[in-house]
Amino acid sequence: MVEEKISWLNGNFIPEDKAVVPIMTHSLQYGSGIFEGIRGYETSQGTSIFRLREHVERFINTAKIYGMNLGFSQTELENAIIEVVKRNNLKSCYIRPFAFYDDHTVGVGTSGKKISVYIAAFPFGKYFSEADTGLRCKVSSWHRIDPTTLPIEAKASGNYLNSVIAMKEAKASGFDEAILTSREGYVAEGPGENIFLVKDGKLLTPGRDSSILLGITRDTIIELMRENGVEVIERFIHREELYTADEAFFVGTAAEVTPILNIDGISIGDGKVGGMTKKVRELYFSLVQGKSTNHGDYLTVVK
Ligand SMILES: Cc1ncc(COP(=O)(O)O)c(C=O)c1O
Repeated sequence: MVEEKISWLNGNFIPEDKAVVPIMTHSLQYGSGIFEGIRGYETSQGTSIFRLREHVERFINTAKIYGMNLGFSQTELENAIIEVVKRNNLKSCYIRPFAFYDDHTVGVGTSGKKISVYIAAFPFGKYFSEADTGLRCKVSSWHRIDPTTLPIEAKASGNYLNSVIAMKEAKASGFDEAILTSREGYVAEGPGENIFLVKDGKLLTPGRDSSILLGITRDTIIELMRENGVEVIERFIHREELYTADEAFFVGTAAEVTPILNIDGISIGDGKVGGMTKKVRELYFSLVQGKSTNHGDYLTVVK
């Protein structure tokens, strides 16, 4: 017998296949939803949700930026997420909180429109099939959304059209993934990942002013590597620095730590997964899988 998948809608647990909306729903037509992407990992203590507090905080902040009243507190949302993971008996999983204008009258305006909050969770493995072997990337002809056009630090559905078009271009040109630059031409991020370069034993990553989503994985890697004595520099990165880096990798909740071996047909370093990338992966996986003695507070064990 197939077990029923349980999701959460506005405070109620409902079967996932019963969570449906009309096609004319505002957020489907206009991209006005907001969301989060969170991972749970199987650990010796049970399934552990990684940095749950920070993900829910970003969800609430995104809602605030768009003036959406979610109607649920940080604690209520955290508890709902934990409960969805528990009720589905999930081990390694992906969790998707989503808030949207649950209204199908035509019109872009949002005032007075109902907001619904939804949480789904499902088993999840690698995001990239090349997660271990490394990616071939293309610098996109599309720039990352400019922060004066849309709030780039908000994790909002509409922002992802920029990601979709960049990915489409990269795939159509025979690459695995895109790298986007800011309107000024500095390296920004991937369609769903932040980026790091390794140069002369140091880590470089675009800073807050480079049109990036402030990733929680990015923050984790910066913290972990500094604790391990590696210098991490947040600054503007020129496109050509991608080509001359010793190593490069993407980070993100879905992408975890994924090596980049080639950009625009140019091999990065010797074109193999480098020592620093391996070290970052080792430290990151050890942390999220509950094998590290540090940062136990980043893991919420589902009991
Ligand atoms: C555009 C973009 N940048 C970066 C990231 C990485 O963010 P995080 O590490 O919080 O998942 C994501 C994933 O959510 C993303 O969609």
